[in-house]
Amino acid sequence: MKRLLIATNNRGKMKEIKSILKDVPLKVVRIWDIDAGSGEIDIKETGTTFAQNAAIKAEALGKVTGLLTLADDSGLEIDALGGKPGVRSARFAESNKARIEKVLRLLKGVPRAKRSARFKAAVAIYDPETDETKIFEGETAGQITYKPRGNRGFGYDPIFYSTELKKTFGRATLKEKNSLSHRARALAKAKRFLRIRSQASK
Ligand code: IMP
Repeated sequence: MKRLLIATNNRGKMKEIKSILKDVPLKVVRIWDIDAGSGEIDIKETGTTFAQNAAIKAEALGKVTGLLTLADDSGLEIDALGGKPGVRSARFAESNKARIEKVLRLLKGVPRAKRSARFKAAVAIYDPETDETKIFEGETAGQITYKPRGNRGFGYDPIFYSTELKKTFGRATLKEKNSLSHRARALAKAKRFLRIRSQASK
């Protein structure tokens, strides 16, 4: 079976991506499963959009390994902060805990009606055979809570109240989050593309 490399070191993302792609006719491989030290390549996320950064990651890893490569770039956009932390979500503060505290501090005194936010994801698939990159995007709406709720998921999940699920992602099961998350929505589009592609190459 043809291999698909998932270009992420984030185990939280990896768990979600693997579960969503389980019925795709490709063998999913993780960075830490392959050798050649490619997990150590220093990839600079210099893009100004999620799509650009996802493409940078997929192309860098795909070119080094020669494998069909999927990368995700995602983040949280908070309306009251003019869309921040956005593409800087992973670098907004030193740790997960510090990032959550920073958001809650910046939103201190902001009423519920003005705490709207959304998670956005771009998934890039780079194919070394054609040297082409395809981009798929997804988003999911919510509100920033006043306090962290739940300890499931990763990153900002405990302070993201999903307006569709009516609970925070921190309290959602993997199945619930994967039914409507930004990443799941982008990956659903990517899956359609991968299925068509694998049928065409049969
Ligand atoms: P990157 O895509 O690896 O550059 O980082 C995205 C960052 O956005 C993550 O490290 C998290 O902080 C945040 N993020 C993206 N998706 C999610 C999610 O589903 N839940 C919580 N935080 C997320």
